[in-house]
Amino acid sequence: MSTPDVFPPAAEVAASAHISSFQKYEEMYGRSVREPSEFWGEIANDFYWRVPPAQPFFKYNFDVTKGKIYIEWMKGAVTNICYNVLDRNVNDKKQGDKVAFYWEGNEPGDATSITYAELLKKVCQFANVLRSQGVKKGDRVSIYMPMVIELVVAMLACARIGAVHSIVFAGFSAESLCDRILDSHCSLLITADGFLRGDKLINLKQIADEALKKCSEKNYPLKKCMVLKHLGRDDLICDGTSKSSPPCKRLCQNIQGNKQDKAKRAVPQTTWNPSVDLWWHELVKNASTECEPEWCDAEDQLFILYTSGSTGKPKGVVHTVGGYMIFTATTFKYVFDYHHDDIYWCTADIGWITGHSYLAYGPLANGATSVLFEGLPIYPDISRMWQIIDKYSVSKFYTAPTAIRLLMKYGEEPVKRYSRKSLKILGTVGEPINPEAWLWYYNVVGEKRCPIVDTFWQTETGGHVLTPLPGATATKPGSATFPFFGVVPAILNESGEELEGEAEGYLVFKQPWPALMRTVYGNHERFETTYFKKFPGYYVTGDGCRRDKDGYYWITGRIDDMLNVSGHLLSTAEVESALVEHSSVAEAAAVSHPHPVKGECLYCFVTLRDGHEFTSSLTDQLKKLVREKIGPIATPDYIQNAPGLPKTRSGKIMRRVLRKIAKNDRELGDTSTLADTTVINQLFENRCKTIH
Ligand code: PRX
Repeated sequence: MSTPDVFPPAAEVAASAHISSFQKYEEMYGRSVREPSEFWGEIANDFYWRVPPAQPFFKYNFDVTKGKIYIEWMKGAVTNICYNVLDRNVNDKKQGDKVAFYWEGNEPGDATSITYAELLKKVCQFANVLRSQGVKKGDRVSIYMPMVIELVVAMLACARIGAVHSIVFAGFSAESLCDRILDSHCSLLITADGFLRGDKLINLKQIADEALKKCSEKNYPLKKCMVLKHLGRDDLICDGTSKSSPPCKRLCQNIQGNKQDKAKRAVPQTTWNPSVDLWWHELVKNASTECEPEWCDAEDQLFILYTSGSTGKPKGVVHTVGGYMIFTATTFKYVFDYHHDDIYWCTADIGWITGHSYLAYGPLANGATSVLFEGLPIYPDISRMWQIIDKYSVSKFYTAPTAIRLLMKYGEEPVKRYSRKSLKILGTVGEPINPEAWLWYYNVVGEKRCPIVDTFWQTETGGHVLTPLPGATATKPGSATFPFFGVVPAILNESGEELEGEAEGYLVFKQPWPALMRTVYGNHERFETTYFKKFPGYYVTGDGCRRDKDGYYWITGRIDDMLNVSGHLLSTAEVESALVEHSSVAEAAAVSHPHPVKGECLYCFVTLRDGHEFTSSLTDQLKKLVREKIGPIATPDYIQNAPGLPKTRSGKIMRRVLRKIAKNDRELGDTSTLADTTVINQLFENRCKTIH
């Protein structure tokens, strides 16, 4: 039987869904764009406001020719997002005993859970600590932590006192952390001693120390570094005394006989600078578990999150309190069709936007129970994900195409070892999903009963912007389908004309929704140039997109100098500037290259200085350099010797040609602008052999 092109929503899901038909979606969508103030106003009513939003509900300018770009939602309204995601659930909704997070450690024996009431206390305690250390409303706090509950505690504690968190993914290097601390002028760093990633020990404190040293060298000495003792902690094994509801018995049964031999795990000596470093556990010891929130304007900054920029320097994407709160809550509710008894699991790291929006704020705003997983999909064995799904009876599961492709490689057997009968909805995010992976996810993981929501969005958009709704949208493998409420997409041609019907071109948005980013931290001009200059009047995503005859949107990938490695956006310029720091390298060009698991990977061309030799030791050094400068995710898969690079007469590197060379594709297209055609043959001869 051939595979259908369209998958209608499953009847069982539609029966109880918040949006149970496409007609209902269309009605709500129509209203959300015709009457956005009324639509979002009703949603905002569900939240707690010290001063409720008034009209005009939102204001904006998307047109650079008419003046400064700005976006404001509910300005003048006063609230606190931490109060809304915790106190509102504990006090108003009487959900204090509900589990907020089931934490599952890297080692299968490590697990614990925390209820909403317990989380509120811990957050208040840490918020008091931050205040006592002099952190005030508007101050920036850098957080560099593994996937532990205290990471959520730290972010919510910042939000509670109106401080702006800047979370840096714990896989980034010391240099990247230092750059981010400097760019956002953070006053404080919160980190941990270390963590295990699979069987590898990451000495996080050591990397943080290096970052702080670099900050000092750049005349920005940080006065305080708070350190969570995570390695060798003894509070991880759930002892059954947690007040969680449902009781976490099933958790304990699994782990009692399964205690790891912790002594085996070498705990590194943590270097300590007593004038700067402070232990988390000592700080919280005497702190009160009650803390009055700082009441914030809806447009006060909530957080900064860095994302790659095509100039090479990461951009500090700024989100604000009110709009981000109502949008992440609403997308979470409808896209995952959230119900009170769901157990939800998003595998993303909190260090990325997916973790911010759909592991922390969105689920918590709905009072949801989530799994927070520290480990890796295939450690200690290739069934780990499915084992966790059964262990916690996960009903909604959200992961990245790269993880699906990785698991797919091992076939169906490891999946089928576990029942996965609790699963209801499957989601993907971060990069285009190839239909083969989509179908495997649907047929094997979801056993044809779970709708797949392929959610397209960006760090900048704050939440889902193109996405199916599981009870309403018929899906097509590889398409993110239709816009979410309040989102108005368009496809433009190179001249900026809107294309109707079936079309392909630049994906843009015509009006703001509540969670669209507000600025680039410290550089509003860069915000205007990057997203609004090319096509005045539109927010430009940087992605290419096709609309088919049925109106479905298909993301075709980035159309700038960015690439998406395992769902993480990288800029080729950032990698090139790392490569040219090596004393042997005169010039470098990095391009994206297809990869069966990562989606895309880096293929780099380097031109050496005279007298330097291209050796395997040099490629190792270059890979190490990129890892150190940016982080392991940016490690190039290929480095090729390029005595010359294809350039236009004006000296611009023709990356289009380099991408073809990397793929051994001799159909180079128009090369009439090439200054020197002789380099081409040489580059084909020097190609790295594809190992995949
Ligand atoms: O190219 C698109 C791709 O990821 C980019 C955004 O990356 P980042 O800001 O790191 O956020 C990732 C998590 C939201 C987009 O510009 N992308 C994200 N989701 C999808 C996608 N491409 C295709 N389909 C998706 N579902």
